[in-house]
Amino acid sequence: MEKTVIITGANSGIGKAAAIRFAREGYQVIIACRNLEKSKKAQAEIIGLTNNRRVDLLRLDVSSFESIKDFCSEFKQGYPRLDILIHNAGYFKHGEKNYQLSQDNIELSFATNVFGPFLMTQLLADMLKKSADARVLNAGSTNIRHFFEPKRQIDFDNLQGEFKDRRPYNSYKMYGDSKMALLMLTFKMAEQFKQDGIKVNMVQIPAIKLSPETVAQFKSGWRMAARVQNLFSAPPETMADTYFHICTSEEFKDVTGKLINDQREIMQSSHYTGGFMQELKQFRDQRVYPRYADEAGNIERVWDLAVAVTGSFVGL
Ligand SMILES: NC(=O)c1ccc[n+]([C@@H]2O[C@H](COP(=O)([O-])OP(=O)(O)OC[C@H]3O[C@@H](n4cnc5c(N)ncnc54)[C@H](OP(=O)(O)O)[C@@H]3O)[C@@H](O)[C@H]2O)c1
Repeated sequence: MEKTVIITGANSGIGKAAAIRFAREGYQVIIACRNLEKSKKAQAEIIGLTNNRRVDLLRLDVSSFESIKDFCSEFKQGYPRLDILIHNAGYFKHGEKNYQLSQDNIELSFATNVFGPFLMTQLLADMLKKSADARVLNAGSTNIRHFFEPKRQIDFDNLQGEFKDRRPYNSYKMYGDSKMALLMLTFKMAEQFKQDGIKVNMVQIPAIKLSPETVAQFKSGWRMAARVQNLFSAPPETMADTYFHICTSEEFKDVTGKLINDQREIMQSSHYTGGFMQELKQFRDQRVYPRYADEAGNIERVWDLAVAVTGSFVGL
C-alpha cells in the first residue's frame, strides 16, 4: 500500500533532500511550503530526479495558525491517510537584532519551530491514526546543548513581545530556546498519542551544509561565517537519509518520545554531575542531552503555553 509523507520546508536543504529520498522510494510526497513560486521549481526538480509524479505541493506557512488550519483542511480533502509527518521547516536568521513577531503575535522562532508543529500535529492526528505505523519527526538542533550551562533557561516571559523594546533580541538564543521547547513537546506528545500508535521523536541535527539561498538571507558578516562553516559540514543528503531511517525502519518502529542523534543513537538525559571535567565530558558526549529537557515543570510550562496560544484552533 502506498504511504504518504508530509515534509515541511521541502523546497531547499535537508527538506528537499528528504523529499527526493522518499520520492525515490515510491512514497506519495507532500511538500508543504510557503513560497509557491520557489517551491514549484523544487517540486519539478524532485519529480525530474525521481520519476515519481506523486510529489504534490501544498501551501503552508508554518508560522501562521490560519495557514496551518487551511493546509490541514486541504490535506484532509485530498488524501485518505497520513503515515509520516516531518516537521523540517525552521526559522533561524543569523545576526537578526530586531525582535521578530509572527502574524499571530508570537516570537517568530517559537511560532515556526514550536507552536506551528504542535498545532499541525494536533490537527493531523486523526489522519495519522488511520495509519498502521504513524511516525512524526521533529527537526532538532545541537544548539540545545547550551542548556548544559546550569543557568540557561527559556525566556518564557518574552515569547509574545512583552519585553521586545527593553531586552536585546538574540536570534541564536531564541532559536536554541525554541528547539528545546520543541524537544519537550516531543516528549509530551509521544505520551499523548501513545495509545493511538502514533510515534513522535526528534532528531538532533548538527551543522549541515546550507543552501546558497539560505546563506543569502543572513545578515552581512554572518554570510561569510556560514560559507566557512559550509566547508566543514556534511551535505543535506546525509541528514535526509537519517530522517528516512527514523521514519521507515524496523529499528525505530516502536520508538517514541526520544531524541535521536545524527549517528541514529537514542540519546539519554545527561548523567554527568559536578565539576569542570564532568561538564566538559557531558558537552562532548553526543549520546546525552541536557537534564533541563526532562524537568516536569518545564515540560508542563511549554505544554500549557502551546495549548494556550493555539487553543482556539485546536480545542484541547
Ligand atoms: N543546516 C544546519 O546546520 C542545521 C543545524 C541544526 C538544525 N537544523 C534544522 O534543520 C531544518 C532544515 O534546515 P536546513 O538546514 O535544511 O535549512 P533551509 O535550507 O534554510 O530550510 C529551511 C526550510 O524551512 C522553510 N521555512 C522557514 N520558515 C517557514 C515557514 N514559516 N513556513 C514554511 N516553511 C518555512 C524554508 O522555506 P523558505 O524557502 O520559504 O524560506 C526552507 O524550506 C530546520 O528545522 C533547521 O532548524 C539545520
